Amino acid sequence: MDTNIESRVEEILTKLTLKEKVSLLSGIDGWLTAAIERLGITSLIMTDGPHGVRTDHGSPARMTSPATAFPTGVSIASTWNPMLVERVGAALAEETQALGCDVLLGPCVNIIRHPLAGRNFEAYSEDPFVAGKTGTAWVKGLQGKGVGASLKHYACNNQEYERFRGNSVVDERALREIYLPHFEMVVKEAQPWTVMCAYNRVNGVYASEDYYLLTEILRGEWGFEGAVISDWGANHTTVESIEGGLDLEMPGPAKYYGGLLVDAVNIYQIEEESVNNAVRRMLRLLIKAGRLDGKERAGSVNTPEHQALARELAEDAITLLKNEESLLPLNPGSIKTIAVIGPNAAELQISGGGSARVKPPYLVSPLDALRSKLDGKVEVLYARGCGYEEDVHQEQIDEALGLAKRADAVLLFAGMPENFETEGRDRPHMQLPGGRDELIRQAAAANRNIVVVLNCGAPVEMPWIDEVKAVVQMYYPGMEGGNAIANILLGEVNPSGKLTVTYPTKLEDTPAYLNYPGGRDVIYGEEIFTGYRYYDKKGVEPLFPFGHGLSYTTFEYCEIQGQEKGKVGESVRIDIEIRNTGDCPGKEVVQLYVRDLESSLPRPVKELKGFQKVSLNPGESTTVSFELNERAFAFYHPDKRAWVVEPGAFDVLIGSSSKDIRRKAMVIIEG
Ligand code: GLC
Repeated sequence: MDTNIESRVEEILTKLTLKEKVSLLSGIDGWLTAAIERLGITSLIMTDGPHGVRTDHGSPARMTSPATAFPTGVSIASTWNPMLVERVGAALAEETQALGCDVLLGPCVNIIRHPLAGRNFEAYSEDPFVAGKTGTAWVKGLQGKGVGASLKHYACNNQEYERFRGNSVVDERALREIYLPHFEMVVKEAQPWTVMCAYNRVNGVYASEDYYLLTEILRGEWGFEGAVISDWGANHTTVESIEGGLDLEMPGPAKYYGGLLVDAVNIYQIEEESVNNAVRRMLRLLIKAGRLDGKERAGSVNTPEHQALARELAEDAITLLKNEESLLPLNPGSIKTIAVIGPNAAELQISGGGSARVKPPYLVSPLDALRSKLDGKVEVLYARGCGYEEDVHQEQIDEALGLAKRADAVLLFAGMPENFETEGRDRPHMQLPGGRDELIRQAAAANRNIVVVLNCGAPVEMPWIDEVKAVVQMYYPGMEGGNAIANILLGEVNPSGKLTVTYPTKLEDTPAYLNYPGGRDVIYGEEIFTGYRYYDKKGVEPLFPFGHGLSYTTFEYCEIQGQEKGKVGESVRIDIEIRNTGDCPGKEVVQLYVRDLESSLPRPVKELKGFQKVSLNPGESTTVSFELNERAFAFYHPDKRAWVVEPGAFDVLIGSSSKDIRRKAMVIIEG
């Protein structure tokens, strides 16, 4: 804690009346906190969201200009590139300030538990280590520029179905090992100014009034110093919430706080000190945001630098899933005609729906980008091939097939219609909607040199996977997505994204299949075996595994070097040399997994405990080093209510994906 801030807080606190104190604990509208003019306290201003500044709510008044629409959360995480993510956080801070705000409501780090959840596009991963590292970088970048984050949604908010009142029933190990570690990492490594509590209940208690989550764990165990704000409309009580640890009820005007909270103090239902503690945290937040010092909000929005960064992020995230016969990259020098098919080619989806949506100043579609890059070199033909939502019609397919037959290569953009993935609603199924699968099938029959480009934020079934040579996932790539995907397809940029969620073959294979969506109670019956932890343990082959992503070059993983022995409580150092053995520059995400060979409780086959993205020219090599701390070997023991490392043998597995393990070494951890 900053002693200067603390002394200021105490000084102001003594001057506030009870009514004034309580006024600071609710918004005055959807986005502003209360001002107290006589003490020079101005309103703190918040806005969404995790991949761009939301400006469609007109508050504050400066919310007029559009903002840079970056790729969404799943793209941000699929870069596996925290340094790049930190740069994006800094750019988001500049845009937030330029648009007159102090807090940007992100990052959204919800664990992706089920492929149909509506906000998967906005979140990061099925794995808490990836989510934690990505969220930490995002918060550091943002707050490093003086804008506050709101780490959300705490906790176990993993589906949209019944999100306002659903009860996530999670065992303690799964809570600790899967649904909390990423929040813990971001809090300990980046100290977000705020944490946003989720709508749902966790084991019967609303997150907005859950003392165990908000006070015992978040503050008591992890040392969180900031303010807890409710999700919009997530507060349901007065006494339980203030005593549970909820500081700011949003949106305003006050509903359960305000007059009811003043009354609760006055009729001795609660001690005024409970209010004081929340007010202290709000005053700290207001001071940090400069709201007691009339700090000018500077910043810049939609600059060429931000546009370039949006493109760089999209390029770094795009994931090459399949590339048979090295069909990609397309070489403009050796092809005459390309057929571009699919509605998403001309109408790119830059995001899913809901509060995270950003109104961009422009957007570049894949078709526009391809046409401008290939102008005069390659003929680019286009046909929609199908509608957006409605079922496909054979005459539309026939028009597309006519082009496919004439072309040297086909680029089929198969994506979601607008808002098909959105906050507030889960997907009804895991198929590409509107008969796109049929379009792909027939186009592949017309021309084997077909590339399917996915424009979606979560896994889809691919019944045609064996009929196409290449598949690229561009996710929701933001306003510069067309330029980014064109650069990848034409080889100007070598793809380096990796999946942060497993892509299953069919819905029945997924970990939460038997328990999703649940009713009012959502039973997390798969316990700690979410994502790749489940597929590994059950021996179910996914369509594409966690951590998968191909490159236009190849990488050699040399023998693992480093410690063969360690001690409980001490870190273990692991080194490995990686070489680019191909003929073009490329980036590789070196992934390190740990396997506990013997444990007193069931553990996953392996768990991700380290990753680094390296950029190498042809023939170049570098040594990647990992410092594995105690948590890398530990599991949470529910009886001991503590993380434990059981001495014994562990495997360290290093590879290019969770299934493409290239090197293995044993480490003995001694008691
Ligand atoms: C929404 C979302 C949250 C968002 C908030 C403000 O319901 O759950 O992520 O920041 O309300 O729009």
